Amino acid sequence: MNSGDLGIARLAVAERRSGRLHMAALHAASLCAAFLLGTLSGGNPARAAEELGPQNELVRINRELAELSSAARSQAGRTLYQSACEACHGRHGDGRGPKWKALPVAPRDFRQGLFKLRSTPFGALPTDEDLDRVIRQGVSGTDMVPFGKVMSRENRAAVIEYIKSFSPRFRDAEGKEPRKPVSLPAQRPFPASEASIAAGKALFAEKGCFACHGQQGDGKGPAAGALVDGWGSPIRPWDFTLGYYKSGATDLDLFRTITTGMNGTPMPSFDGATSEEERWKLVDYVRSLGRKRSSWATVLFVSEPTGVVYDGN
Ligand code: HEC
Ligand code: HEC
Repeated sequence: MNSGDLGIARLAVAERRSGRLHMAALHAASLCAAFLLGTLSGGNPARAAEELGPQNELVRINRELAELSSAARSQAGRTLYQSACEACHGRHGDGRGPKWKALPVAPRDFRQGLFKLRSTPFGALPTDEDLDRVIRQGVSGTDMVPFGKVMSRENRAAVIEYIKSFSPRFRDAEGKEPRKPVSLPAQRPFPASEASIAAGKALFAEKGCFACHGQQGDGKGPAAGALVDGWGSPIRPWDFTLGYYKSGATDLDLFRTITTGMNGTPMPSFDGATSEEERWKLVDYVRSLGRKRSSWATVLFVSEPTGVVYDGN
């Protein structure tokens, strides 16, 4: 074994321990190798590799280090998943962890690649940022708690890589299934008003929302009783009088969901069926329903599992 192999072996041991420190050491080591390559060729590692030939020791070490660091990242993701997610989502990502039977809303089965809360078109896979938002904020009204304050961005990225590994759709995704967000405005074009709420109420009837959500928005529309989700379980349309939402706490969160729909549920996308302006008015009507009922019970419930958890990352 030459010195290069020894270095790799030592790193492999470090990798098995998979602490953050070791990840950092690994990263430093690969930076070091890249730097060495760089200095050999006036700062251009690619040219250096070319000049030195593919058999060169440094080229090989650099490549092996890069592979190791991605293996270490996926190991870190697995460890985090096992400690923080597996109890609900299950060892194999099938949503059947030891806790699932006790939960009123089933934990997501990750194997089909169906995600409710996305910025991508109806039916499409979510972006990593969509998954990060859900993990940071949690899903109000369910046991999916927010992890934004207890998990760093780096750790969330590792766990996201790991949960994507449960669905072959993400593996086939290169090229075949683009994960591009629809175009979403950064802010709303006009403020909510009595007029926009009234216009939203008319649209709520006109566009058929009432069939599921009920004209009062309490989730008891004429079609509500017969709905089934993508995993074969009965599902209720959201009750807007609760005043909190799975999508998040802002107008833009609701706008995004009405635009893209919720995969794996009967909630359709209204991207084609409504204009942007109409969707803002629908948001205003939906939110106005939540303000009608505010009790201490609601306020306490909302602030406990959701809050606005954003750790600045
Ligand atoms: C106490 C149970 C529980 C734990 C622990 C838990 N989840 Fe969840 N998770 C849920 C439930 C329940 C849902 C389904 C929410 C729904 O369908 O409305 C869910 C949904 C999700 C979704 C899908 C959101 C979407 O857009 O459809 C993701 C992603 C997710 N969880 C990731 C994680 C990750 C990552 C962890 C660990 C860091 C984790 N969850 C820990 C219960 C849990
Ligand atoms: C075919 C039935 C159906 C129709 C029609 C429908 N919805 Fe929904 N909608 C649902 C279901 C079911 C859910 C809840 C999914 C869940 O909880 O996982 C939902 C959820 C939502 C949410 C998400 C709330 C949250 O918790 O984030 C919003 C917003 C929404 N609907 C608005 C609308 C609007 C506006 C319309 C009409 C333009 C509409 N829906 C039409 C079935 C429907």
